[in-house]
Amino acid sequence: MNQHAPFDPNANHASTAPAFLSVWEMEAYYGESFIVQGISFNVHEGEILALLGRNGAGKTSTLRAIARVAEPEIRHGEVWLDHKPLHKMKAHDAAQAGIGLVPEDRRIIQGLTVEENLKLAQIAPPVGWSLERIYDLFPRLGERRKQEGTTLSGGEQQMLAIARALARDIKVLLLDEPYEGLAPVIVDEIEKTLNVVRDQGLTTILVEQNAVRALNLADRAVILDTGSVVFDGSAREVLEDERLRQEYLAI
Ligand SMILES: Nc1ncnc2c1ncn2[C@@H]1O[C@H](COP(=O)(O)OP(=O)(O)OP(=O)(O)O)[C@@H](O)[C@H]1O
Ligand SMILES: [Mg+2]
Repeated sequence: MNQHAPFDPNANHASTAPAFLSVWEMEAYYGESFIVQGISFNVHEGEILALLGRNGAGKTSTLRAIARVAEPEIRHGEVWLDHKPLHKMKAHDAAQAGIGLVPEDRRIIQGLTVEENLKLAQIAPPVGWSLERIYDLFPRLGERRKQEGTTLSGGEQQMLAIARALARDIKVLLLDEPYEGLAPVIVDEIEKTLNVVRDQGLTTILVEQNAVRALNLADRAVILDTGSVVFDGSAREVLEDERLRQEYLAI
């Protein structure tokens, strides 16, 4: 770097830090459908990465591949989390290694209260956040700890889904469209909690249709188009690049 470059307070200092999660030339298939077509990107510890792109670009597939759920199947490339080869693992081991996937449908377990949902997440060590710490972050969940999880509002269920990931000892939170269908005030609340967990060092990949909100929260952004990376840089850069936004995000 040019020693005499002026100090830029908005520069992405994390970019010189070593990668924490590294996706390298990842190719993944649903049966014979070649969907994730050789994706590479890095995520640094403690940052929020917005993973964006139009419908069908491959965002969910990328998150699922990283979390090592059965489909899509990785047939080429590598995924490393903190020196551990996720590409060699199954979902259970990837979860043990610290991957916390919160899928779009949230998967709140029927018949269990809020607290039981959280305690179930803590059954297998290593245990993550304590219930007390979780209720401190999400007071709404504390107030509703005895309520059946599936009777919560959409926003509260999203909070429970995130809280359940934190109740395990995760290193990376993978969020698939957490704001979907939620009122702006609830989105504000969830954003606030994502800021808190980032301040505490957690690393997050945020997939969102609401790209402007995601970009305003995120440190960096990766944009996918038909299963390939078309942009990797700072979130601010995307917000300031009208061509990029129109071409790949339609905003
Ligand atoms: N189980 C599956 N079998 C075959 N193809 C699939 C399967 N799931 C997804 N696909 C295809 O993979 C491509 C990428 O889908 P994916 O769900 O990853 O996109 P996305 O970026 O998350 O889109 P959206 O914004 O609509 O959620 C799409 O063309 C989709 O039809
Ligand atoms: Mg999706």
